[in-house]
Amino acid sequence: MEEPLIPREEIGRRVAELAQRLREDYGEEPLHLVVILKGAIFFAVDLIRALGRPVTLGFVSAASYGAGTESSGEVKLNLEALGAVEGRHVLVVEDILDTGLTLAKVKEAIAARAPRSLRLCVLLEKPARKQVPIEADYLGFQIGDRFVVGYGLDHAERHRELPDIRALGPEGRSGHRAEA
Ligand code: IMP
Repeated sequence: MEEPLIPREEIGRRVAELAQRLREDYGEEPLHLVVILKGAIFFAVDLIRALGRPVTLGFVSAASYGAGTESSGEVKLNLEALGAVEGRHVLVVEDILDTGLTLAKVKEAIAARAPRSLRLCVLLEKPARKQVPIEADYLGFQIGDRFVVGYGLDHAERHRELPDIRALGPEGRSGHRAEA
């Protein structure tokens, strides 16, 4: 396992900054967070605690990866635990924006249910891998084309427990802070 690409302290600082921006943007408005299972739960929990204000919670499960590190290109959604989104401010929380296929599909499914607003809050983005034009409204870090694990991100269900984000595989450029 390599050196941390993004150490836990830096993740914590960035999560606090994102929470501050969300507080400024949403004020006291009711906010429904939709967390994409499973990897984003770690980010979502830290974000909610940093927000320090009431939110309601929904979940979507999306499967696009098998046991490997390449997307199958096919995204299957389970929307059973989405919660009520019609007429509400909805913020989707995702761990990583890779090809963009997952978030595009989730966004489309929620938009079809007529929310009052719909934004995306994403911890990591790999700009080099994007296949569909989708942007996070709130973004933690941009990273190079490397497969990363830790802080909820897995490789075949392993390494989620690591507190830092680490890269598997070949060298690339390291993570850098995205413009908030
Ligand atoms: P996308 O649909 O290609 O944008 O892929 C998004 C999903 O792929 C994420 O929710 C992750 O589950 C998974 N994924 C993409 N890149 C990585 C990575 O580097 N590490 C772990 N999971 C990843």
